[in-house]
Amino acid sequence: TYVIAEPCVDVIDKACIEECPVDCIYEGSRMLYIHPDECVDCGACEPVCPVEAIFYEDDLPEKWNDYTQANVDFFDELGSPGGASKVGATDHDPAFIKALPPQGE
Ligand code: F3S
Ligand code: F3S
Repeated sequence: TYVIAEPCVDVIDKACIEECPVDCIYEGSRMLYIHPDECVDCGACEPVCPVEAIFYEDDLPEKWNDYTQANVDFFDELGSPGGASKVGATDHDPAFIKALPPQGE
C-alpha cells in the first residue's frame, strides 16, 4: 500500500484524490489517509502531491514510521467503505495526529 505522512497535515491539497482510480484516499480533520486494503498500489497519487507527503510503504522515511499505523488506525471504526467520496470528511484522525501543533505555514 501507499502511505500519507506528516507533510499532508494541515495542508490537505487534495490533488491526490483526483488521481486515485479506486477512491481510497479518505479525508480526516488534519490530513488524508490511504485505505491500506483498498489501495491497489497504482502509484498515481504519489507524484501529484505538491508537498511530497505520499510514499510507497517501503520507501517511507523512517522519521514518519508512525504514519503507516496512522493510515491503518484511521479506519478502525470506518472499516472498508469501498469509496471515500460517499464517506466525506470524518474526525477519526489518530490521537497523535490530532495532538500535533499546527503545521504548514
Ligand atoms: Fe495531502 Fe498531498 Fe493529498 S497534501 S491531500 S497527500 S495531495
Ligand atoms: Fe490510489 Fe494512490 Fe493507491 S492513487 S490506488 S491510493 S497508490
